[in-house]
Amino acid sequence: MSNSLFRKKTISSIINEDAHGSHGGSGLKRVLTAKDLTFFGIAAILGAGSFSSLGGAVFDGGPGVIVLFVITGIACAFTAFCYSDFASRIPVAGSAYTYAYASFGELFAWIIGWALIMEYSIGNIYVSYSWSDYFTSFLDRCGFHIPDYLATSYMEAKHAVADHSENQKLISAWNNAPVLGGLKIILDLPAFIINILITYLVYRGVKESKNFSNLMVILKLGVVLMIIIVGGYLVLQGNFMQNWIPENDEGARSFMPNGFGGVMAAVAGVFFAYIGFDAVSVLAEESKNPQRDLPRGMIYSLVICTVIYILLTLVLTGAVHYKKFEGQGDPLAFIFEKENLNIGWMQSLVSFCAVVAMTSVLLVFQMGQPRIWMSMSRDGLLPDRFQKIHPKFKTPSFSTIVTGLVVGVPILFTDKTFVLDFTSIATLFAFVLVCGGVLLLPKKSKNDTGFRLPFIPSKYIFPFLVIVSFVLLICFNKNYFSNLFTFSGKEVNMTLNISTIIFWLVCLIFSVGAFLKNWSLIPLLGLVTCLYLLTGMTAANWIWFAAWLVIGLVIYFLYGYNKSKLSGLSK
Ligand code: ALA
Repeated sequence: MSNSLFRKKTISSIINEDAHGSHGGSGLKRVLTAKDLTFFGIAAILGAGSFSSLGGAVFDGGPGVIVLFVITGIACAFTAFCYSDFASRIPVAGSAYTYAYASFGELFAWIIGWALIMEYSIGNIYVSYSWSDYFTSFLDRCGFHIPDYLATSYMEAKHAVADHSENQKLISAWNNAPVLGGLKIILDLPAFIINILITYLVYRGVKESKNFSNLMVILKLGVVLMIIIVGGYLVLQGNFMQNWIPENDEGARSFMPNGFGGVMAAVAGVFFAYIGFDAVSVLAEESKNPQRDLPRGMIYSLVICTVIYILLTLVLTGAVHYKKFEGQGDPLAFIFEKENLNIGWMQSLVSFCAVVAMTSVLLVFQMGQPRIWMSMSRDGLLPDRFQKIHPKFKTPSFSTIVTGLVVGVPILFTDKTFVLDFTSIATLFAFVLVCGGVLLLPKKSKNDTGFRLPFIPSKYIFPFLVIVSFVLLICFNKNYFSNLFTFSGKEVNMTLNISTIIFWLVCLIFSVGAFLKNWSLIPLLGLVTCLYLLTGMTAANWIWFAAWLVIGLVIYFLYGYNKSKLSGLSK
């Protein structure tokens, strides 16, 4: 049994399938340059994270959330190198799922495929909510008001009332909602409807075109630059800079008003803003010079987005006191409202562009999910229906409808914070497996073509880095380690402390491993930085994620394990 759990597909069999069209990758023209790949990366990265989750992140961490953007950007850059390494070893238009099947075997491949549902489908629930926030804000400016109870998720309104939130939209949704059979009718109708429309478009078969995608990127970059220039100018001119060291609840001024704990509480929102760069790796076969351009495309897009996020955070936190961002679904438009910077036309422009830009993100992810399920179905891990192609539209019709349901049904009863946390923890988990996977792969031989991940020996460097981090932490924050063992009474702090203790223990174990095995430094740093980001997740996130994994494993053992195409071969 244990051997068959780790049964692997050979790289040659994957490439062979690909040549016969299974992965949809045969005969693709190599036309994409580093510039195209960078554009594609930005198209997938820049979306609801910058237009929406940035508000919540700023509310949690204040201006200091910039530090987290830098840490997350670095973690994603290391992971991007690992994706490039995989993509060059298994040069088919696959995903982390395909890579895992060849390197770790079936069980891990299934777990990654299962976690990717979070990135692609559950992530799209968040994007739909954000789309709705900007759409309603845009309609408001045009004079049409959708009642708050029809543009708010039920759980969000309920939590707002329970937490005595100051967010008037959420409170009004709860107070004014009609009641049917004792239940308040509160739902995010625009989010639900956009999901139906996107599902219909994907079902009928929209073509992803390079020109359309590039146009979207130019639009997104254009509006973001305008926000930075116009907002930045007003912040500097109006002398609002004191907002960069705002007062916290105790009246003390700080760049990190809620401490580093507050900054780490923003990890799900910040990480979500980076998700998408991994999608560049699926273009391996279409790039002119994948070994050179694939990592460049990913790294360039990450660097550009990191700079954008830092500048946006400076503008947002300069324009408005960080506490006002509580529950703000459209923070980039919010800063231009009457009581803030007061530029009506910017508010309309930002809302309109956000709606268009997020529609393209919804399309990219809603088209990606059925394709991963098709691969899993071809391997026997999901029923045959998931690979069924519509005779007329030539799209994976069944998978597309299931994706629509997986995104659409939860829109009616979940809330933004929950889906954001869920998406981020699962995607980070998948990244940890990808980095760990590259660490365990055999070194490439000199004759291998393709991208070569520079081998930097970790034998001395990694233990040295861990020791230096310890020393610096003790020098700059004497009580850092003793605080980890202090119980403050707050559940959030306790989870952060426990995860941080585990993190440092893991670092010590990896230091020994690095010394003995001399692992490659880049994937090791990718693994460790992603693990560090995971320390920001709450106990509730872990419990939900563990439950999700258990459900996935039950489905695998009841179905995929027996039906797998490899099951006959391993017996
Ligand atoms: N990073 C993508 C976004 O922000 C998922 O929408």
